Amino acid sequence: MLAKPNNPRFSSGPTTKHPEWSIEKLNLESLGRSHRSKFSLSRIQELTQRTRDILNIPDDYLVAITPGSCTGAIEMAMWNLLGQRPVDIFSWGVFGNLWVRDIVEELKLPDIHLHQAEDGYLPDLNFYNPDHDCVLTWNETTTGVCVPNGDWIPENRKGLVICDATSAAFAIDLDWSKLDATAFSWQKCLGGEAGHGMIVLSPRAVERLESYTPHWPIPRLFRIKKDGKVIKVTFDGMTISTTSLLCIEDTLDALVWIQQNGGLSAMIQRSQKNFQAVEKWVSERSWVDFTGQDTKTRSTTSICLDLLDIPPESRRDLIHQIRDYLADETVAFDIAGHKYASPNLRIWGGPMVETEDIQRLLPWIEAAYKKFHPITVI
Ligand SMILES: Cc1ncc(COP(=O)(O)O)c(C=O)c1O
Repeated sequence: MLAKPNNPRFSSGPTTKHPEWSIEKLNLESLGRSHRSKFSLSRIQELTQRTRDILNIPDDYLVAITPGSCTGAIEMAMWNLLGQRPVDIFSWGVFGNLWVRDIVEELKLPDIHLHQAEDGYLPDLNFYNPDHDCVLTWNETTTGVCVPNGDWIPENRKGLVICDATSAAFAIDLDWSKLDATAFSWQKCLGGEAGHGMIVLSPRAVERLESYTPHWPIPRLFRIKKDGKVIKVTFDGMTISTTSLLCIEDTLDALVWIQQNGGLSAMIQRSQKNFQAVEKWVSERSWVDFTGQDTKTRSTTSICLDLLDIPPESRRDLIHQIRDYLADETVAFDIAGHKYASPNLRIWGGPMVETEDIQRLLPWIEAAYKKFHPITVI
């Protein structure tokens, strides 16, 4: 009998909580109190400060909690900042395509340069024009393809770089000098709760905010500017709308765990180890491969695998059979890829996942594959 993972939670979002998480350990003192009370505010500010410390966010960058998870944070950035310059949009998966739709159909910008790639590929980043604004998703959770580095973004660029970093933050070393408005959520690498996001603004983004006003309306939930000036208190813990203090405590607990367990570099290593366990297993098999075609662009967090010798029309069905079987066996929950991506098996390999659990999962995937596709010689 194959050993089962101790923790079957391999969903790519919301993702599993850290290995020592327990609801009893959360500080519940702020619950039932105003989010503006001195105590609650101190907890929110502590969350922001620990985020800054772990991610090495420069002191002159602004950090705020946003409503609406990563979606809220990235839309806040686009609604407030875009429109002054042409925009290069790089998109290679479901989430990138959502931001394309926002820019094309909602904001209706006049000068859009769209650089898209099929699932498994990264668009050619050489098309980036530093005079333009740029919108991209650093790690496309739905295809397991991520940007390998920020070398292609010059520091003396004129446009802003707006980045959805939701399944990258806390698992890779983001180079803040290359990013002007960065969005992420707690429900990815932190194993936190959904519903809340974070936005990080560079001084250049603040300068844009204060010198330019888009011609479209800004919904209250995205409003971070008043009388031509950035609303500083929003970036000092005064959230725009009421925030969940239970989610704050849960995220604080994850941040403290990170700091007690080696900080960002240890989290990056944990995710890399998870990826390497899958990489070794894949390299020894001919029926499975990464969706990502270029080794340099393969995500260590959203690990997407393709079943090679299955006709495309039956691939999704087989993946669903594997997903359901492994969930029934409490081996793995939620390992089918996103429904709008090309069919893939998707294993979350973020820092809260234990490598031993991934190692235990892989033989089960093979067993399930053989069970539902028994004629293949492996
Ligand atoms: C890359 C990326 N961006 C944005 C989102 C949307 O996140 P949320 O639903 O938390 O707003 C996700 C969710 O999986 C994602 O993977």
